Amino acid sequence: MCGICFMCGWSISAQMLQEQVLSCCSSLSNRGPDACAMTLVPITAEVVGLFEGCLLWLQGDQPTTQPLLDHRGNLLLWNGDILAGLQITKGMSDTQYISESLSTKEEADITSFLGNIKGPWALIYYQKHTQRLYFGRDVLGRHSLLWRLPSATSRVFLIASVCRQDDRVKEIPALGLYYVDFSVVNLAEEFTVNLIPWTHVAEETLLSMDSVINIKKHKISSCIQTRLNMCVPSIAIIENIKALPCSLDEENVKVLYLALEDDVANLLKILTNSIRRRVEKCPPKCRDCTNSTTKCVHTKVAVLFSGGLDSAMIALLLDSCLPESESVDLLNVAFPQKVPQNNRAKKLNTKKMSSSDDDSPRNYEVPDRISGRQCWHQLQELRPLRRWNFVEINVSSAELAEERESVIRHLVAPLTSVLDDSIGCALWFGGRGHGAVVGVPYTSPARVLLCGMGADEQLGGYSRHRARFTAAGWSALLEEISLEISRIHTRNLGRDNRILSDHGRAPRFPYLDEDVVNFLNSLPVWIKANLYLPRGVGEKLVLRVAAAHLGLTAAAVLPKRAIQFGSRIAKLENSRERGSDPCVRLVEK
Ligand SMILES: *[C@@H]1O[C@H](CO)[C@@H](O)[C@H](O)[C@H]1NC(C)=O
Ligand SMILES: *[C@@H]1O[C@H](CO)[C@@H](O)[C@H](O)[C@H]1NC(C)=O
Repeated sequence: MCGICFMCGWSISAQMLQEQVLSCCSSLSNRGPDACAMTLVPITAEVVGLFEGCLLWLQGDQPTTQPLLDHRGNLLLWNGDILAGLQITKGMSDTQYISESLSTKEEADITSFLGNIKGPWALIYYQKHTQRLYFGRDVLGRHSLLWRLPSATSRVFLIASVCRQDDRVKEIPALGLYYVDFSVVNLAEEFTVNLIPWTHVAEETLLSMDSVINIKKHKISSCIQTRLNMCVPSIAIIENIKALPCSLDEENVKVLYLALEDDVANLLKILTNSIRRRVEKCPPKCRDCTNSTTKCVHTKVAVLFSGGLDSAMIALLLDSCLPESESVDLLNVAFPQKVPQNNRAKKLNTKKMSSSDDDSPRNYEVPDRISGRQCWHQLQELRPLRRWNFVEINVSSAELAEERESVIRHLVAPLTSVLDDSIGCALWFGGRGHGAVVGVPYTSPARVLLCGMGADEQLGGYSRHRARFTAAGWSALLEEISLEISRIHTRNLGRDNRILSDHGRAPRFPYLDEDVVNFLNSLPVWIKANLYLPRGVGEKLVLRVAAAHLGLTAAAVLPKRAIQFGSRIAKLENSRERGSDPCVRLVEK
């Protein structure tokens, strides 16, 4: 991952700019530990722009330092991955490729070029001869980008991947490509940001935007061309799918597999390709060997691993995408939970401690640890030639409180809820990969971290999908799926990207690959979620059948368990809180 930042202000000295960036964007370098650079560029007579880029080397034979200046004086900050869609010369980094491609392009060609990229990105691009600053996030909003717009009291404009907690800083909505035209904008008085929206963005969404944003009439089309299939099943189909088996035991899996054979085969093919792209674009060196000249024999790819369906499938399919000699780290995070006690022990305990039960014994055998271990055993049986490192990450309450206060709350910001806190903390410790492998202390050196984000939203995996279906049927389920996908960038992805990138790795999300999204959009909803079937079978049906068919029998039947519950972090905190409440622990003390 990389960290990128731009800042400018009205009559602010270069030194002031540098000081401000240093104080609010100090964690940029965690995202890009391999090289950092800063450039100051005069934009108008009164405005100087500061560009900073911190790089994690992911593509090309050599790391490419940022900001990258071309022969025309244009500057590029690129925090992205071109995974497909455009042909990059072998050995070249995607940063070099984009800089060269954009150097001669004007607006219409810039937008169509960016629309053709498959892969996640956030970008800041200054085009010198037009004095325009372009910036934005990919069509799904997989990478973080924040802004602080100029206000009456502070004539400063900031864009950054991540920023210290500050009420004035907001996430940039992933609605298209933005630009500021410094040949007409006068930072001292008024400020306008132009937005060229993605074609699929709803008019209501655009109408509800801040008034400094000027929405352009023309639009950008992205590589997500297939709209969500909104068909509801006919009476004949309903009869058929109601008659499908209600469990995933061996005999029933055969029946279900026959019923879904083509869809399962297509899903496996497309998902495997998505995983392959995400591990092939990686240097032959782990995070710790960047500067070493000897051959790196360490793990380069890790999976955020609960042992649930989504992560289990990624791990299994990953096996076919990596050379046999590469080991894989399975990162499994747990927070202390109370040891379940029998009644007698419980009585003894309550007698001893009348007022508080905080001292009751705790361990890390949480649901995700148990399912993770079980799935790890199954992976070892199914793919015995691979070395699978099951990394047990135990996080004490004290360490949680300390890291939240000093680091995590700044990464979660500008999001603020109890849910953001618990998911953010669980992901941060999981992604850090600091734990033990069969009892021996171990820190994962992987450069790439594969995560299961996006499967539940698209495949109807949440309990609210079932609640909507039960209350109001197929159309309601489809509306819920459509809503979940459209807001995933504001609810989750920016936050998850800030959190997971803080360890100098690239989090990559195979279920949010453009081809996977197009394919899942095309499937009839009842293939994705047949909610006549019980919990643990019906949701994410096509993925479950694929998993069971491949032998991941334990993971296939696990109902959805969100990371905050599976890792037990939610129980560690005040259990009376609601997920949507503002979280007091995220606020500065
Ligand atoms: C690699 O070398 C560069 C330049 O000397 C240095 O800034 C960076 O921290 C080093 N990276 C690692 C992982 O040691
Ligand atoms: C983590 O917790 C598990 C389960 O409580 C325990 O078996 C293991 O030894 C712990 N690992 C470390 C490194 O503390």
